[in-house]
Amino acid sequence: MTKKKIAILTGGGDAPGLNAVIYTLVRACKSLMDCEVIGYKFGYRGLYTNDFMPLNRSTTSGILHKGGSILYNSNKDNLFNYTVEENGVMIQKDVSDIAIENMKKADVHALVVLGGDGTLTSARDFARKGVNVIGVPKTIDNDLSATEITFGFDTAVNIVTDNIGKLHTTAESHHRVLIVEVMGRSAGWIALHAGIAGSADVILIPEIEYSLQGIVDKVNERKTHGKPFTIVAVTEGARCKEGGASIGRIVEDSPDAIRFGGIAQKIAHQLEPLVENEVRHCVLGHIQRGGDTSAFDRVLSARYGVKAAEMIRDGHFGTMVTLRDNTMGFVPLEEVVGGGDMGETSAGGAKTVDPNGELVRVAKAMGISFADE
Ligand code: F6P
Repeated sequence: MTKKKIAILTGGGDAPGLNAVIYTLVRACKSLMDCEVIGYKFGYRGLYTNDFMPLNRSTTSGILHKGGSILYNSNKDNLFNYTVEENGVMIQKDVSDIAIENMKKADVHALVVLGGDGTLTSARDFARKGVNVIGVPKTIDNDLSATEITFGFDTAVNIVTDNIGKLHTTAESHHRVLIVEVMGRSAGWIALHAGIAGSADVILIPEIEYSLQGIVDKVNERKTHGKPFTIVAVTEGARCKEGGASIGRIVEDSPDAIRFGGIAQKIAHQLEPLVENEVRHCVLGHIQRGGDTSAFDRVLSARYGVKAAEMIRDGHFGTMVTLRDNTMGFVPLEEVVGGGDMGETSAGGAKTVDPNGELVRVAKAMGISFADE
């Protein structure tokens, strides 16, 4: 009897933990069902171009700890609205049937898709066309409401915390205000967690509009306490009461085209005339998604990977793996995706920080300002 074949792809941006899910899934598919596994490269693009590699003990050896994805990532390849050239003209077209044909030719029994809202929306659409699909949610932003915690978040928080610590020593030496911009899009989870863990003095998140005066007040208050330096952690998508959010760039061929960016520089520029200190900024950028995966994320990814394999074994297709009440489970993809684009943020609706929630209260009780008063 021929072995069942399972395919994996990693869509959207990379997140630490993707390789750990691949590593675990390959081994669990073997031990639970004696399946063969292949991996399509560059997300859905590989499904269309039929570009895949064998995934086995040997090809996945030594990847558990590594960030990125050995299958590579792409957040621009929605096969239901794909850019192709026809008669010398670039047009948008549904090429999903070609992908399905490729999977049939490769004898793929089930497809496991690791990604955010856009990737999982396509997963749902493939499920509607009869493909046996299982989704595994990923994003460093931790903004998916369908699951308690996504892999990659803990690693990003550790990196940001570590860097806030580094900024402390230099800010203190120069008596500067240092503003550090972190990822998260419209969710402030990374800034909030790393800001608390790294002892930021001000945390600015999209869920709580800030005012410049609020930052000035904190800088001055610290001075009266003998602390002539201040660390501000700001989410890239934070919004100023007086001026809104800061758009960094538009990635035209990405369906979720808006990239936030530039807020730290903007605040530094506006703040400097209002305080006595020199004000500098620092953008952590993709460093937050790079390097090795944290121990917590490796364990979390392993749990996601094994659960996905169990779901294949039990035939729970058209679903996404979840973690709720610290228990692995699953929900129908139909319930968790909504966007219909390739944005990578919000499976099941965005999970954002509650401005009156416990963590904000904890931060405030610690004396951290949100510059909102
Ligand atoms: O959603 C994850 C994320 O890292 C966001 O925090 C960030 O805004 C975005 O992706 C950056 O995307 P890209 O790497 O495509 O610029």
